[in-house]
Amino acid sequence: MTDGNEEHSEGGNGAPEPYDDLIERVHELANLNGVVEMLEWDMETYMPPKAHGDRGQQLATVQGTRHERFIDPQLGSYLDALQEESVNAQLDDAQRANVRAFGRDYERAVKLPSELVRELAKTKSTAIEAWLRAKKASDFSIFAPLLEKTFALKQRVAECIGYEEAPYDAHLDEYEPNMTIAELKPLFNDLRAKLVPIVETLVDAEFDPDLSVLRQPCPVPEQREFVTMLSRAMGYDYERGRLDETEHPFTIGANDDVRITTHYYEENIASAIFSTIHEAGHGLYQQGFLREHFRTPMAEPISLGIHESQSRLWENIIGRSERFWHHYYPKLQETFPSQFREVPLRDFHAAINHVEPSLIRIEADEVTYNLHILVRFDIERMLFEGEVEIQETPQVWNELMEKYLGITPPNDAKGVLQDVHWPTGLFGYFPTYALGNLYSVQFYNTAREEIDGLDAKIAAGELLPLKQWLNEHIHHPARMYFPNDLCERVTGQRLSTDPFIEYLKEKYSGIYGITL
Ligand code: CO
Repeated sequence: MTDGNEEHSEGGNGAPEPYDDLIERVHELANLNGVVEMLEWDMETYMPPKAHGDRGQQLATVQGTRHERFIDPQLGSYLDALQEESVNAQLDDAQRANVRAFGRDYERAVKLPSELVRELAKTKSTAIEAWLRAKKASDFSIFAPLLEKTFALKQRVAECIGYEEAPYDAHLDEYEPNMTIAELKPLFNDLRAKLVPIVETLVDAEFDPDLSVLRQPCPVPEQREFVTMLSRAMGYDYERGRLDETEHPFTIGANDDVRITTHYYEENIASAIFSTIHEAGHGLYQQGFLREHFRTPMAEPISLGIHESQSRLWENIIGRSERFWHHYYPKLQETFPSQFREVPLRDFHAAINHVEPSLIRIEADEVTYNLHILVRFDIERMLFEGEVEIQETPQVWNELMEKYLGITPPNDAKGVLQDVHWPTGLFGYFPTYALGNLYSVQFYNTAREEIDGLDAKIAAGELLPLKQWLNEHIHHPARMYFPNDLCERVTGQRLSTDPFIEYLKEKYSGIYGITL
């Protein structure tokens, strides 16, 4: 792109030269990232078990190269040049967004000393190993020293990155740009205050759907065929993606190669159905960026909260609605006649929406799920504010579970040790799950206002109009705005708990035949 001629300040696309220089390097970093992701995908799916050593080496080399290329001061000088007012004014909106978003990532990366990055990586592998042992023995004390160490490193990270008010904000910002504890704390307190009585009422209602309909053995090949059909109907593009099998489902990749995974249990068909719909929702987001921006921040997700809003919208609001199954339940009955022919849609729908306070977050229903997140958020916040010590977390965990969900974990494995996030060093990550749930309802309500006859379309199995609306309003803007601003632009309202709570009340009043 560059010709070294000082008089030529414009590149091929009319952008100033430092922009073309920057984007060339941004593309290179995106390519390295793509390589890392495909190595990771292979590791989780088909890699031979003994190849772990080789793969570890390969990943370390490629990731190390990527990090070096990323923190190159040359990139800083391109960014500086592009922030000059006269140069910046020559950029169009998308180019300016690319500079802003990449600048944020770059600033974060260069603020971390390499020694700290290495220490984090080293601690992560020992912490995961200790956590696995601790979880197996259901003994927090085995993991405690490593959590101490991880937490101390994360405190250092916050100091290096910097923050305006609270150290925790430096971590939140990584997953949900511009989100702060000052905004989150009242939002989540409000959510808890409204959710707890709803859960209590639903528990007291003693509504007892027949869950055995979901435990009937369904052969895996037919399950696979069925969930592939569903994800295709959502608009997930199998020419630019694929569906494989892993214990923990995930979505990985970008541009024209966005892969999803699911899992199959013969005696739990709901698991494959909802994890596939969930991941296909993530997949649609990753596949939904504009081609002209591929390999730049303008083809990257804005935040984890918005990412999760896409998966939850499809999984819960669509996938667990009676409307959706109006069309797809007869297809399920056709695929599994001996299992579902005699089961009325009403019973199936009640079973897939069963609400019950439970110990394990990833198995929680959509009503109790956010309370699991609030337990984790409150502990993280108290740790960063110095209100609790690492040693006290198992006890605080159990107290909060009792307070929010009315149940006390019998042991650490089913309590504080259940998630991989803290061993992996992910603090400030959990809140994005609850944010996703809140965003999802606000987005869906707006889609319903803007798409003619959306309800009838869904009842007829036509899912593409919704997918196209999400493409246009949520996916195409990519990283143009901050998440809370995108929410306001799209829905006309700031993020709030009301739409989500109203959605739950309406839905579960209907299913339970009560007034919430
Ligand atoms: Co997800």
